[in-house]
Amino acid sequence: MIPRIYIPGDSGALALGAEKVAKAIASELAERGIEAKIVRNGSRGAYFLEPMVEVATANGRVAYGPVKPSDVKSLFDSGFLTGGHHKRWLGAPDKIPFLAKQTRLTFARCGVTDPLSLESYKKYGGLNGLTNALGLTPAAIVAEVTESGLRGRGGAGFPTGIKWKTVLDTSGDRKYIVCNADEGDSGTFADRMIMEGDPFVLIEGMTIAGIATGATKGFVYVRSEYPHAVAVMNKAVEIARKAGVLGASVLGSAYAFDMEIRVGAGAYVCGEETALLDSLEGKRGMVRAKPPLPAHKGLFGKPTVINNVISLASVPVIMDKGAAFYKDFGMGRSRGTIPIQIAGNVKHAGLFEAAFGMTLGEIVDEIGGGTATGRPVKAVQVGGPLGAYFPRALFDTPFDYEAFAAKDGLIGHAGIVVFDDTADMLKQARFAMEFCAIESCGKCTPCRIGSTRGVETIDRIAAGIEPEKNLALVTDLCNTMKFGSLCALGGFTPYPVMSSITHFPDDFKPAPVRVAAE
Ligand SMILES: Cc1cc2nc3c(=O)[nH]c(=O)nc-3n(C[C@H](O)[C@H](O)[C@H](O)COP(=O)(O)O)c2cc1C
Ligand code: SF4
Repeated sequence: MIPRIYIPGDSGALALGAEKVAKAIASELAERGIEAKIVRNGSRGAYFLEPMVEVATANGRVAYGPVKPSDVKSLFDSGFLTGGHHKRWLGAPDKIPFLAKQTRLTFARCGVTDPLSLESYKKYGGLNGLTNALGLTPAAIVAEVTESGLRGRGGAGFPTGIKWKTVLDTSGDRKYIVCNADEGDSGTFADRMIMEGDPFVLIEGMTIAGIATGATKGFVYVRSEYPHAVAVMNKAVEIARKAGVLGASVLGSAYAFDMEIRVGAGAYVCGEETALLDSLEGKRGMVRAKPPLPAHKGLFGKPTVINNVISLASVPVIMDKGAAFYKDFGMGRSRGTIPIQIAGNVKHAGLFEAAFGMTLGEIVDEIGGGTATGRPVKAVQVGGPLGAYFPRALFDTPFDYEAFAAKDGLIGHAGIVVFDDTADMLKQARFAMEFCAIESCGKCTPCRIGSTRGVETIDRIAAGIEPEKNLALVTDLCNTMKFGSLCALGGFTPYPVMSSITHFPDDFKPAPVRVAAE
């Protein structure tokens, strides 16, 4: 058997030099006259070890990383094609602590299989969920998804089964499944990783959603900054169509389902589901007032399911192993697993899929290994640019929707961004207001005007102008934005602002006092 070498081709690994490593390995193979197959797999998500090259040996896979092109000659000299020792040797990938500690349900195949091989997908359990779903009535599929406890991974945590039931129960000559792959939150990359590393799982999840709700057409709305994900998804859809997974007769059944990949133009607000629908319809992305819910009147006025990539990609494992299996993981009303994306100033950046319930401290200190700079952690922003900053004092908070809400925070899309003690939280609060001002769709006043006034008022605090009065004004403004905004962009911007003020009051003291305190 010719040796197999796995070199990730996903954006994260490419950004860290995987292409150069792949070229160096290919030319070394040619020079040495060795025949081998290079597979461009997805990443397993341990980005601090990328480019992570794996070889399939008689004793299973052996990983090496982070590999530099300059390592390649010595890797061959060390016999890496048979798992030989080298300074980059990591051993069996599933024994690497960062990977061994995970519970991989949604990401089970990511980094393991060839993303565009349907055979490889099936070999690792792919299409089992769809096959099972085809044997059930739509109502039974919806009941299974509801029973699993799956909640939307895009941010709001709304129960997926209930959303699907609304669409199933709404009549329409046409219904749609829209996958939200806008992934605009800071520090998040789970959607991108799955689209690049295991695209068929998303296709399978969307097809199950279609069968369950009576929708025959799906759209994936991908942000323009993800060209590799768009390319992989387009190829995967083509392959799925040719294989009869998509089309007039899904896997030979009486159900029809097909899908298209659409590219957004890059606006944070177009991740909001109704603005996304406007954008998908070819209009400027503006938030729509609800009701009507998209489930009743969504894309082109038809009943529409809008779900995040990870929500949909989690459905196949639920339909394969059953609701009870999935529900068994997690805590409270947060069931199953969540792909936590650890980013920012952190030693071990990457994606860590685990059952809900780990504390923030475990994630940052034990899994993330603390800051990359080696300085103390000052704050962690959880849930994207609209998420609260958590100080070390709140590190005992378990990763659970309700537990975070109880501490005035949110899980969002499960991205966490770590900051060390050099971070200036006044600047971070100002940034949140500025971000809102730039990204606001402009439809409602608290967000459109409030965010600009917020920047100005924080600037006055920084300049030492009537700090107490201006702090009270920011607090008042945050209340107006929180309760008066139409969508969560204006409504949640107060979270990073108020958490900065509440947990890091010293950073909001007038400049002369701050200098004196330092
Ligand atoms: C300003 C804003 C941006 C959002 N961006 C995203 C996004 O990039 N991806 C996403 O899945 N959901 C995003 N959401 C949440 C969506 O509106 C919606 O709740 C989600 O797509 C529903 O899918 P889910 O139930 O599977 O989470 C955003 C919401 C707001 C208010
Ligand atoms: S809160 Fe902001 S983004 Fe949302 S509808 Fe209002 S103006 Fe638009």
